[in-house]
Amino acid sequence: MLNKIESLLQEIKSLKADSADAAEQLRIKYLSKKGRVSLLFEEFKTVPADQKKAVGMALNQLKKSTQDVIQQLKDTFNRDEGANGQIDYTLPGTSRPIGSRHPLAVVRNEIVDIFARLGFTVSEGPEVEDDWHVFSALNFPPEHPARDMQDTFFVNKDPDVLLRTHTSSVQVRVMETQQPPIRSIFPGRVFRNEAISARAHCMFHQVEGLYVDEKVSFADLKQTLLYFAKEFFGEQSEIRLRPSYFPFTEPSAEMDVSCSICGGKGCNVCKYTGWLEILGCGMVDPNVLDSCGIDSKKYSGFAFGMGIERIAMLKYQIKDIRLFFENDVRFLEQFKSAL
Ligand code: PHE
Repeated sequence: MLNKIESLLQEIKSLKADSADAAEQLRIKYLSKKGRVSLLFEEFKTVPADQKKAVGMALNQLKKSTQDVIQQLKDTFNRDEGANGQIDYTLPGTSRPIGSRHPLAVVRNEIVDIFARLGFTVSEGPEVEDDWHVFSALNFPPEHPARDMQDTFFVNKDPDVLLRTHTSSVQVRVMETQQPPIRSIFPGRVFRNEAISARAHCMFHQVEGLYVDEKVSFADLKQTLLYFAKEFFGEQSEIRLRPSYFPFTEPSAEMDVSCSICGGKGCNVCKYTGWLEILGCGMVDPNVLDSCGIDSKKYSGFAFGMGIERIAMLKYQIKDIRLFFENDVRFLEQFKSAL
């Protein structure tokens, strides 16, 4: 039996084929149900028990070698070559799928572009911050709940090292190092100690905007945000500002944009109100300017901050924020055509 296996192996090693069809015929001859290799497996049943181990191993080896030899023969014909060995240039090329931008990057770039047209530059700051830049310089009183472990991720046990909870920290860094006029936006990732659900995540992205100069007024803020809304959501968009509160702006407001899905008539995206809440804003509190070394008697400014996920969810009607971070290609591929 071992001799038979050996001689068949030699025979197979010297096999040749001059076409893909011939290689297939060889596969049938040796590997099909009644093929010569398969028949040896039949014979294996009659091998005495004490030889079964050695013969079994040799047989498996034979089968593997046969498969390899025939596959190699087939491969020579399966390339983009005609039967005479020449490359067939009319065959379609092998397509290599290219990736696409992440929807959050698409939306961020669009926001950056719109503000760039108004003369805003882009700045960034660190994600691991200290208390001063995230809270103290921004006029958060010491007992403010945002400083609590409940809302903020602290790094180690040091209460002075934390993950920024908003991009407003970059305002402080920019104002500490530059004098007005300052006109800049700050895109970046932020972290909050929140239970993860379809609507909330412990990490997300914001774009912050800051404009500081002499005589900057609330009217400038309104006009800037109206321009943004029209550019991003369409010319027919309207905005409305509702009074709100942030420690670092006074007065403060929340901005709604007219629902771009139903045009303000009411639908389930805007919960039948006709309006979508998209950002927080206000006039920079003079305390903040002074904390950062900017003369609040001479200068004034406005600031705003918006969540990129929220805006992307509205734009693409995405119902679950977790999809952004799962990186399932079936989700990501849908944004292929986007910039
Ligand atoms: N930092 C605020 C937030 O995260 C948003 C904001 C930015 C509000 C700037 C006013 C001015 O909710």
